[in-house]
Amino acid sequence: MALREPFSRLDDNPALRKKILPCCRLKPGEIWTDKKSGHKVGVLDACSRKDIQQLFKNEKAALAIQDPPYNVAVGNKSTGNLFKIDTAGYSEFSRQWMENTLCVLNSSASLYVWLGADQKEHFQPLADFIMLMRNFPELRSRSLITMRNQRGYGTQKNWMAVRQECLYYTRGTPVFNIQAEYTAIPRILRGYYKEVNGSRTDNAARSKSENIRAGNVWVDIQQVFYRMAENMPGCYAQKPLKAIERIMLASSRPGDLVTDFFSHAGTTLLAGEIHGRKVFTFDTDPVYAELTIRRLEHFRGTGKTGFQCANPFPEAEKKV
Ligand SMILES: C[S@@+](CC[C@H](N)C(=O)[O-])C[C@H]1O[C@@H](n2cnc3c(N)ncnc32)[C@H](O)[C@@H]1O
Repeated sequence: MALREPFSRLDDNPALRKKILPCCRLKPGEIWTDKKSGHKVGVLDACSRKDIQQLFKNEKAALAIQDPPYNVAVGNKSTGNLFKIDTAGYSEFSRQWMENTLCVLNSSASLYVWLGADQKEHFQPLADFIMLMRNFPELRSRSLITMRNQRGYGTQKNWMAVRQECLYYTRGTPVFNIQAEYTAIPRILRGYYKEVNGSRTDNAARSKSENIRAGNVWVDIQQVFYRMAENMPGCYAQKPLKAIERIMLASSRPGDLVTDFFSHAGTTLLAGEIHGRKVFTFDTDPVYAELTIRRLEHFRGTGKTGFQCANPFPEAEKKV
C-alpha cells in the first residue's frame, strides 16, 4: 500500500484537533516528568515568568534551542494557531520569552534562535529580533547559521527562498565542540592552490576527506517531509533532528540540562534522549506537548525517531 499522510496539518484542521484534544494527558499549566531520564514536558507559556519558574525550580540550563513562531499566519483561526501580529507586538513577545530564557540559563551557556525573515515585509521578524538582542549586553553574538531547505517558495520574478536562519549567542564561556564533527557537506569548490613537491595542488587534492566540517552554512540536512522516519504527522514546522543534534553536540555536554520553549514536534527532547542530555520543554498547545511525549515513548518502544505515516493517536480513531 502506498504511504500517505494519516493527518493533515493540525493548524489547518479544527475537526481533527477537537478529536485528539481529549487524548492529551496535560492541561494548560500542567507538567509531565519523565521517570527514566528526568525530562520535563509542559503546557506552558514562554512569556510567563511563573510558568518558567514552575518548570525549572532552581535548575539552570547549559543550552537553549528556541524556535518561536515566525510571525507569519499559519493555519486556521479557530485552532488558535494563527500568529501574525504587528512588529512592535512581536518584539514585545520576543522580549518576554528572551528575558525568561536568560533567567534559566547558566552563567556560561549557549542560545540558538531559529527565526524567519519575511522578504515581502522588510525581513521581519529576523531584522527586528537582531536589534532587540542588543538590549541584552551579557550575550555575545557569535554566528548567523543558514540552513538550506529543499522545498523553496517564490515566483519566476524573484530568487527562490530556500533558507532557514538560526542565530547563535553565548553568555560567559560555554563549551563549543564543533571541531570533532565531520558532516555530509561535500567539497564543491576548489581553489586555494599551493605548490607541493613541485606540482600545483588545490585544497581538495591535499585533503584526506571528501567532506568539509560544518561552517555556518548547512546544505547537508534534509528538510522533514512525510515519508521520512522522523516525520511527526500533524506538525507544520518540524525541525530536522540532525540540525538539533548538531547544535546539541556542539554546545552542550552529556548530562547537561537543555531547554526548548517552543517544543512543537518534540525534536529537542528526542535529540536530548539520544545524546544523554536532560531536556525541559513545553508548548502552549496541549496537542504538541502530547505529540512531544508520544514521540519520546515511541522512540523508546521502537527505536524510531518519529511516526512517519502512522497515526500517533490511534485511540482517537476508535472514538468516531
Ligand atoms: C515553529 S514551532 C516550533 C518547531 C519545533 N522547534 C520543532 O522542531 O518541531 C512553534 C511552536 O511554538 C508554540 N507556541 C506559540 N506561542 C507559544 C508560547 N507563548 N509559549 C510556548 N509555545 C508557544 C506553537 O504552538 C508551536 O508549536
